[in-house]
Formats: sequence, C-alpha cells, structure tokens
Amino acid sequence: MTTLKVTDRDGRSHTLEAYEGSSVMESLRDEDMGIEAICGGQCACATCHCLLDEAWFDKLTPPGEDETELLESLDHYEAGRSRLTCQIIVSSQHEDLELTIGPEE
Ligand code: FES
Repeated sequence: MTTLKVTDRDGRSHTLEAYEGSSVMESLRDEDMGIEAICGGQCACATCHCLLDEAWFDKLTPPGEDETELLESLDHYEAGRSRLTCQIIVSSQHEDLELTIGPEE
C-alpha cells in the first residue's frame, strides 16, 4: 500500500491508502473524494482531473498525448500541475504523493 495526501474541493486534507498497480483515480473514487470518473479510466472524460503538488509533477511519468490534449481542453487546466488521476498508476515511488481534486468544470 502507498499513502496519498489529498486535498478535497472544500480544502480538507485526507490521507488515503492506495493499492500499488491501481490508478490514483480508483482510490479517490473508492473514498468518495468527489471525482466522477465517468469513463472509468479510459482517458476520455477528464472528470478525474487533479492538481499535483508542483514538486511532484516532474517526478511522475509525463502525461501521454491523449491525456495532454484532454487536459488542455479544461477550463481549470494548469500547466505543470494538472493530471488525470486515471493515468497515474500507483507504485511505491508515489509514497506521500500530494494532490488536490480539480475544480468542477
Ligand atoms: Fe475519465 Fe480519467 S476517468 S479521463
């Protein structure tokens, strides 16, 4: 298990346990953190948008072309922070990953 540090849309902090090999989105959805994840993790809806702590952004595998295209279509896109949580697969390297749930579009 890996620990994630999540700030919800009300500014409250949460510490979640995430299974390695699952997506960050799955942990957020399972813990009712307010993401819809309508497409179920197919990189097609952007309702799993989060803003990473800047220090973490460069540590992760960069977003793919499809993810980047979808992110850039969002009103609340922030270069260097925005990611789709369904595209981040949890590993031991993500211990204490800090992220904020993206604003509703
Ligand atoms: Fe739809 Fe992530 S769940 S893009």
